[in-house]
Amino acid sequence: MVVPRLIERKRDGGALSGDEWRELIAHYATGAVPDYQMAAMAMAVLFRGLTDEELAALTGAMLDSGERLPRSATGGRRIDKHSTGGVGDKTSLILAPLLAACGVAVPMMSGRGLGHTGGTLDKLESIPGFTTRMPLSEAVRQLDAIGVVMFGQTEEIVPADRRLYALRDVTGTVESIPLITASIMSKKLAEQLDGLVLDVKVGSGAFLPNIADARTLARTMVGVGERAGCRTVAILTAMDRPLGRTAGNAIEVVESIAAMRGEAAGDPMEVTLALGAEMLLLAGGATGRGEAVQILKSAIRSGAALERFREVIRWQGGDPEVVDHPERLPRAPEIREVRVGRSGRMPPLSPRVLGEMIVAMGGGRRMAADAVDPAVGLEILPRAGQSVAAGDVLAIVHARTPASADDAELTLRRALDHAWQEDAEPLPLLLERITHDHAAPYGDPAWEH
Ligand code: URA
Repeated sequence: MVVPRLIERKRDGGALSGDEWRELIAHYATGAVPDYQMAAMAMAVLFRGLTDEELAALTGAMLDSGERLPRSATGGRRIDKHSTGGVGDKTSLILAPLLAACGVAVPMMSGRGLGHTGGTLDKLESIPGFTTRMPLSEAVRQLDAIGVVMFGQTEEIVPADRRLYALRDVTGTVESIPLITASIMSKKLAEQLDGLVLDVKVGSGAFLPNIADARTLARTMVGVGERAGCRTVAILTAMDRPLGRTAGNAIEVVESIAAMRGEAAGDPMEVTLALGAEMLLLAGGATGRGEAVQILKSAIRSGAALERFREVIRWQGGDPEVVDHPERLPRAPEIREVRVGRSGRMPPLSPRVLGEMIVAMGGGRRMAADAVDPAVGLEILPRAGQSVAAGDVLAIVHARTPASADDAELTLRRALDHAWQEDAEPLPLLLERITHDHAAPYGDPAWEH
């Protein structure tokens, strides 16, 4: 294998054979192929794309660079959910214990905040003592015992992606549909799932904002999953505004606990129930969407979902008391109300601007090694589309210092002014559902089982 010749072929629009991809990735994972050659290859892929055969070979080669989560003899069907990333998206926190309470085995392997988007691991680690780092053997032991584990990608899983993702992040090669697909699907296939539900975000806060790109990404990931024997369904959901009332780390755990208590309504619950119903259907735990939603709601009403979350926290070394006393979670010292300056209809506030604002407050990372402040964040009170009057509370800022709260207040006012000028209609929350043989607007009666 002469790497420069492979790069030139891809650069000029040709294809690599399966063996060439396997050799390239195997050598990259061991360090024998240097980052500068892989960066050039990633850029060539970004411009030229991959054939279906190349994408399957690349995903398989990345998967084979590490270990797989061992299958176990016990437990229900293994189903996971993955989102392409957003702001205020706490659905994973609710879905993992909720589905486990319904008899589904959920190995929820999540990521950290990336760019302006939040990460499930950072949110969970705001619970005092909670650890998301564990070897695969420990993850399987917990999965077998309580039906759910919420952990981070270990060194053992898809090491080629750990290296390639970090490289793409600094070489302008993140926004490539085949590279995103290979990255996400190699990690999900390493979990040896029976089924996977993908939440593909659309709108200004998504990595691929426009719906045509999001649709192509969804179709591509569904195709790779199905060809690998993993039933895969994608739902396109709105990320033209933050999801729900909170964005930050501890503050999103508080909203998630309220949701598991049945005390939260609105957008996060709608998305949670839509994704959860797909997970339950893939697990064979319901015969139709209506029934699936009823099962999920009754697991919330009975307290079973919350009880399972308490067990997850206990197993993973956290303080289970936060479930009954969310005030034990870290709380920022500076709490500031920001009020609306004039009356009107609440426009969608840019998730990218608000996500970057939270990073600037310390709630996310600028560099991989940065520590995250678990306590800072934002509550946004009115929903997009709702009428607001001058003087109503727009948001409550949770900041580390008065100066940081000042900056956040200014950013919020500018974001609101800008959104008012744009006067955009909020996207429908649930846009489309995509399977290997069907794509339809969400809620289309044709796909009811
Ligand atoms: N998340 C991933 O894991 N990989 C990507 O390439 C993009 C989002």
